Amino acid sequence: MACALLLLSLWALTGTVSPQAPGAHEWSRSKQRNNHCDGVCGITTGLCPDRLLGEESRRTCPRPCKADGDCGNKRQCLCDGQCGLSCVAPGRICPWPLPPSENSEARLLSPTHSFSALLEVRCKPGFTLPNGLDATIRRCQGDRQWSGDEPICTESQSPEEPAAAQTCPLPEDIVNTFSIQGDATAGTSIRYTCFSGADIVGSSENFCQDNQTWQYPHPICKKVYCQPPREVEQGYVVAVQKTEYEVGFDIHYLCKKNFLLDGPQKVTCLSNGSWSASPPYCRARCLIPAERSRVVIGGVKRWSFDVTDAMVPHGENVTFYCRHPRKQCSFTATQTCFDGKLQPPACYLEPTWLQFKLFPHRLVSEIEACEPNDVE
Ligand SMILES: *[C@@H]1O[C@H](CO)[C@@H](O)[C@H](O)[C@H]1NC(C)=O
Ligand SMILES: *[C@@H]1O[C@H](CO)[C@@H](O)[C@H](O)[C@H]1NC(C)=O
Repeated sequence: MACALLLLSLWALTGTVSPQAPGAHEWSRSKQRNNHCDGVCGITTGLCPDRLLGEESRRTCPRPCKADGDCGNKRQCLCDGQCGLSCVAPGRICPWPLPPSENSEARLLSPTHSFSALLEVRCKPGFTLPNGLDATIRRCQGDRQWSGDEPICTESQSPEEPAAAQTCPLPEDIVNTFSIQGDATAGTSIRYTCFSGADIVGSSENFCQDNQTWQYPHPICKKVYCQPPREVEQGYVVAVQKTEYEVGFDIHYLCKKNFLLDGPQKVTCLSNGSWSASPPYCRARCLIPAERSRVVIGGVKRWSFDVTDAMVPHGENVTFYCRHPRKQCSFTATQTCFDGKLQPPACYLEPTWLQFKLFPHRLVSEIEACEPNDVE
């Protein structure tokens, strides 16, 4: 009995003409009343819904029924989709092939196009149904129509496509002049910073409008100059003298003969309008203030008249010999030449011309050095 029902329900779905098999009407009744199927037939047949007309514009359903006996002898009580159990002539067919559609393609999912046959309507790529899906299934109804409304596929909207190109133009010279924060997309702002570090003339912020134009003109970077650095006495500037210098400009310095460069040999105009360093000084040599005794210069003990011009360069240390106030011994004191000034230490006493000529061996630089503990 269960197998006969299964067979019958398959006939019903595919719309094949039902044979005069006993129990065909009993199937309908049994589906309605007592669920004595063992599960297998339940899955295959499903339950026929009560007549329920939804949104679809199908107006007419065949006569409702509960059993074949409710219908004439050419019709059977079959499940007709949303019409529920209806008196249907099982051999009825639905239109096939369908007239070609521009945006969709129809394909039969069943071997025939008769009652209960299924049909798939699939939209062509780029098109969708009003519900957003791209395919729907239609069923051949007892009224010889495919179920549901005529599917209409419309061109689907791609939301990303228009946004991609919506940017405002940034000319090359602007990109080369400024560091720009932001991506110049329509509806957003960007900020400019001068690469040179210079001040901005104009608005440092701009807005890319929806029509892909900028709200304001692009700003400009104020050109930066360095003012001429201070003059260096006794020195030369190795550069063309200007009233202002561009960023990156180098000035080299030289000192006149016998002057020593104290400071940088070169200064550069920085992007903030300052020089990289203060200009140097040219420092003068010092005359050695000891003519009649020896001094130590650069670790060598020598007479000043043996030194070129009797002068030491700026920054040089000169060690003098002083006489012990009570003993016949000498100790040393060092002074440094600073820009032409070199004072002998207070303890140093220049020997007289007579002492120098008559007693050269008793000169302060020539006598014995004091013991360390002789010097307080
Ligand atoms: C210019 O920049 C240098 C180095 O970055 C800095 O040492 C100097 O103070 C700046 N000068 C001014 C006026 O901002
Ligand atoms: C001179 O002496 C000072 C202090 O001892 C030292 O720092 C400096 O390097 C010396 N200068 C020379 C030219 O030797």
